[in-house]
Amino acid sequence: MNIMKTVSLAFVTAVALSSVAPSQAELLPGDARRGAEIYAQRCVMCHGENGDGNGGMAANFLEEWYRFTKTDEELAESIRNGFRSEGKSYAAGSMPPQLMNNRDLEDVIAYLRSRFGEGRSLSLPE
Ligand code: HEC
Repeated sequence: MNIMKTVSLAFVTAVALSSVAPSQAELLPGDARRGAEIYAQRCVMCHGENGDGNGGMAANFLEEWYRFTKTDEELAESIRNGFRSEGKSYAAGSMPPQLMNNRDLEDVIAYLRSRFGEGRSLSLPE
């Protein structure tokens, strides 16, 4: 095989691999501190600085602990594709789909878990 063929084959393979839909890629453990910055930029207006849902605007993470009995994949699905519960009503209506890469998703989920999930451990500087 000549060199050009080898190079173009490598290129085609790389393109094929990188086109795997992000939602199918496995989630890795995230960085909660980086996730805190994402939360502050993209989630705080609805979920509130301390996660209380801004007076009924959105899910109150302090009370709705059952949200964090879901797996990372389920939470990722809710964040990426949007989510609406049966029989609940929030001023924002529903969780709007977020355009987010896997790393940002992993980090924001790590943040949510460490701050609001079972056995929460993260204490952030005020
Ligand atoms: C426009 C307001 C709004 C924004 C912005 C928003 N959310 Fe939500 N979110 C909601 C509402 C409303 C719900 C409750 C939906 C329901 O259960 O009916 C919700 C629910 C959730 C849930 C629970 C999903 C489940 O499966 O139970 C998670 C997790 C979540 N949001 C994470 C985030 C993250 C992370 C961000 C920022 C990247 C974000 N939200 C930004 C409104 C918002």
